[in-house]
Amino acid sequence: MNQQEKLHFADDVIEGLSASHRSIPCKYLYDERGSELFEGICDTEDYYVTRADIALHEAHRDEIAEAVGPNAHIIEFGSGAGIKIRIILEATHPRAYTPIEISGEALAQSVEALSEQFPDLEIRPLQADYTKPVPDEALTLDPPARHRVVYFPGSTISNFTHTEAHEFLTRMARIAGPGGGVLIGVDLIKPIERLERAYDDSDGVTAAFNTNLLRRLESDLDATLERDAFEHRAIYNEDRQRIEMHLVATRPTKIELDGKRFDFDTGDSIHTENSHKYSIEGFRALVKGTGLHPVTTWTDPDRLFSMHYLETDLTP
Ligand code: AVJ
Repeated sequence: MNQQEKLHFADDVIEGLSASHRSIPCKYLYDERGSELFEGICDTEDYYVTRADIALHEAHRDEIAEAVGPNAHIIEFGSGAGIKIRIILEATHPRAYTPIEISGEALAQSVEALSEQFPDLEIRPLQADYTKPVPDEALTLDPPARHRVVYFPGSTISNFTHTEAHEFLTRMARIAGPGGGVLIGVDLIKPIERLERAYDDSDGVTAAFNTNLLRRLESDLDATLERDAFEHRAIYNEDRQRIEMHLVATRPTKIELDGKRFDFDTGDSIHTENSHKYSIEGFRALVKGTGLHPVTTWTDPDRLFSMHYLETDLTP
């Protein structure tokens, strides 16, 4: 992290810990160590999400390809080097592929791996934060593609509240443009026990992922805290249909940062991440008014995970 990023991080932490409902933005979970731990989560028995997403891609590859159509410009939010984007690229024969990724290193790795496997594919990487506006020039192709398809797998949309997700889909619709579409993965509502187990796996990887944030406060921000006074907790909030991850104080303790002091009683928490779950109908309803409409929805054979193909309301 550079100095500028550290200042932002410190500001966000101070703001989050000063509120009555204490929280820290979930993006801070994903530093280098956090991203490694997240990959570890995907390999655990209890976290079904990644396996179900891959099973969905494998089971429905031909129908997905039919929905996307040939000669599309596939724009991925995040960089794919894994099995899912390979299935999509293999099945759809796109005009070009643009991964949009903030980490230059992750982007370069993805481009290297994919250009080896798809030597004839035009890969047009874009190093940028996909939550911010994307300059249209960066996505212009000559000759143009038949249409654009924004690809957003993995249920990353789950991190957003419903309002944020609605705004984000509206932006995706604008990027996709007339005749374009959005191919988006969404984790499904299921029994609480299964959900809570997925976010508190028995190997303790998710707990390590969450508590890594405390280590970051110490190493990146020089905060003073007692790491062993907090524990990982994942609960399903039924009203809001989301898993919430928290760091909960197991004894009275404090966090000191930039001359400020935040006291915790036993049981006080810092809210660190949300993972919203949707029914198929619930997600289709959320899409209304974004400039997109649902066309097709697939699930994996175990019906744990869904993927929607949405089309923009504007015809070319
Ligand atoms: C990256 C948002 C899809 O919500 O399942 C998994 C994040 N955090 N375990 C999810 C996560 C802890 C994950 N997403």
